Amino acid sequence: MPLLNPELAFPITLAGGTPYRQTMYLKNVIDHPRMEIGDFSYFSHSAPAEETADILAPYLYPFSREKLTIGKFVQIARGAFFITSSANHAMGGLTTYPFRVFNPDTIGGYDDLPFKDTVVGHDIWIGHNATIMPGVTIGHGAIVAAASVVTHDVPPYAIVGGNPARLIRMRYPDEVIAELLQTAWWDWPLDKVEANLAALECGDIKALRGAR
Ligand SMILES: CC(C)(COP(=O)(O)OP(=O)(O)OC[C@H]1O[C@@H](n2cnc3c(N)ncnc32)[C@H](O)[C@@H]1OP(=O)(O)O)[C@@H](O)C(=O)NCCC(=O)NCCS
Repeated sequence: MPLLNPELAFPITLAGGTPYRQTMYLKNVIDHPRMEIGDFSYFSHSAPAEETADILAPYLYPFSREKLTIGKFVQIARGAFFITSSANHAMGGLTTYPFRVFNPDTIGGYDDLPFKDTVVGHDIWIGHNATIMPGVTIGHGAIVAAASVVTHDVPPYAIVGGNPARLIRMRYPDEVIAELLQTAWWDWPLDKVEANLAALECGDIKALRGAR
């Protein structure tokens, strides 16, 4: 039996065969016109699965102009969430109170506010209670430390932490990062990923070079 099945909503099965319903493959529990999610990316929370989009990106509305894109093999811990562009109030006036939202005739009246997509690459670990602010791009292989507030783009294979999140360290030297990005193992067929798990887990780029 393959280790991973991209079609499952609840991919962890406990001893005894019960699915663990608090960890979900996002792609299979979210149907949102402004979200795009890749295979095997998961998130954990204790609410019913149908509330997942709301918990993960509470200000991303079906009519929002920005998009939230999450790649493959992304690991999102409990309490982490995305604040997207639609969360922003107009700041150019003398008040930030969104008066026009309260009248159906004028609710669309903030459509001229600037917006930016949020993009999460592949194989990224987002720690417990992390907050990702509007318009951020997180590079492949990055780690966002627990309770961070990410306000700027995160380079591939960086570890960032704190509020505002700053670079803690790079995970590998530049040449290894370049090779990992070139290898793009997340785009391999699943049987190739599974056949090379030991190489992926060992931390030595040389082991990946012989991957078949
Ligand atoms: C970032 C993390 C991965 C540790 O990485 P690491 O390289 O082993 O980091 P270290 O513990 O050696 O700490 C390195 C530095 O990062 C800082 N740091 C660690 N975690 C941090 C955090 N959450 N926020 C801010 N800074 C943090 C440390 O204080 C240390 O700073 P210093 O060099 O000034 O002393 C870990 O702290 C973390 O946040 N893991 C996420 C756990 C989680 O949320 N799990 C949820 C279930 S999946």
